[in-house]
Amino acid sequence: MNYKLAVIPGDGIGPEVVGETLKVLDKVGERFGHKFEYTKALAGGCAIDATGACLPQETVDICKKSDAVLLGAVGGWKWDSLPGNERPEMALLGLRKELGLFANLRPALLFDVLADACPLKPEIVEGGLDIVVVRELTGGIYFGERGFKDTDMGPAAYDVEQYSEGEVRRIARVAFDMAVKRGGKVTSVDKANVLESSRLWRRVVAQVGEDYLQVELNNLYIDNAAMQLVKNPKQFDVIVTGNIFGDILSDEASMITGSIGLLPSASLAEGNFGMYEPVHGSAPDIAGKDMANPMATILSAAMMLRYTFGLGEEADAVENAVKKVLAEGYRTPDIAKPGEETIGTERTGELIAGAI
Ligand code: IPM
Ligand code: MG
Repeated sequence: MNYKLAVIPGDGIGPEVVGETLKVLDKVGERFGHKFEYTKALAGGCAIDATGACLPQETVDICKKSDAVLLGAVGGWKWDSLPGNERPEMALLGLRKELGLFANLRPALLFDVLADACPLKPEIVEGGLDIVVVRELTGGIYFGERGFKDTDMGPAAYDVEQYSEGEVRRIARVAFDMAVKRGGKVTSVDKANVLESSRLWRRVVAQVGEDYLQVELNNLYIDNAAMQLVKNPKQFDVIVTGNIFGDILSDEASMITGSIGLLPSASLAEGNFGMYEPVHGSAPDIAGKDMANPMATILSAAMMLRYTFGLGEEADAVENAVKKVLAEGYRTPDIAKPGEETIGTERTGELIAGAI
């Protein structure tokens, strides 16, 4: 089969980690008889430098003509002083909205070989962690009405948190479907003790849950969920939540695994279309130094093979190749113990491609 990929390397370490991922995909193509066609596109700071806009229309068009999007990272110091709505990060919000990517899946896995890197006490994570945060990505306060107005306390700014039943229903379905294939448990996170939008959220999630009697549904308030995630993270399987709570909880969940350099993510639209990117950012401090860990991007490509292309065996091959390279003791600096020998981005990519 032929698969068309839009490839957005972006800024910082993005081009390096994406470069290694394409090598791995080429190997998958060779071994399993597929052809992956890449069309490069600009987004983020590099797009601002080249065209003046962080998300050129051409990039959106290329993505829409592709089967999936692979993205490295966007942003960096160079563009930090730009006004909020012109920053490279706005490219991400634009892509999510333009491409209808309403479901963001962020797995937080504790890799056995890196158990030492987990900042929690060993007894708290004994037996491993395997959580996936399902974050609603095109609604809520990120995309609600915003503006300025005068008040008795002086000029004010506001951003509206709004959720419709339809938006909640479709993200809840994604979470329940996922739970059926995993641990059979959904925890829905909201602030229903205060927010009207959260009360609607909770009611609709419960309705959807009636179609999934084999899945256990729990509700937690966001403050308690943040606490439970460090107190007893093993209680979680699938966490479903809105855009801003999901932004915060997914960072917390990735950090407690101690392996942020290894965590992939998928942002899915209705149908099979998706955008795949590592959870980590553009890391400008190590860009261009052959130090970045390409594993999170490579594992994102594995998610792409599985979710967009339905290529489970190929996805397993990529995940097993990463595990093998880790098990053989190879480490990039981000996951090495003090004094341990390390390898660079390129060598890591070559080893993983070689293991396919
Ligand atoms: C993320 C990021 C983005 C978000 C920023 C960069 C706009 O933090 O993908 O989690 O808030 O969604
Ligand atoms: Mg975030």
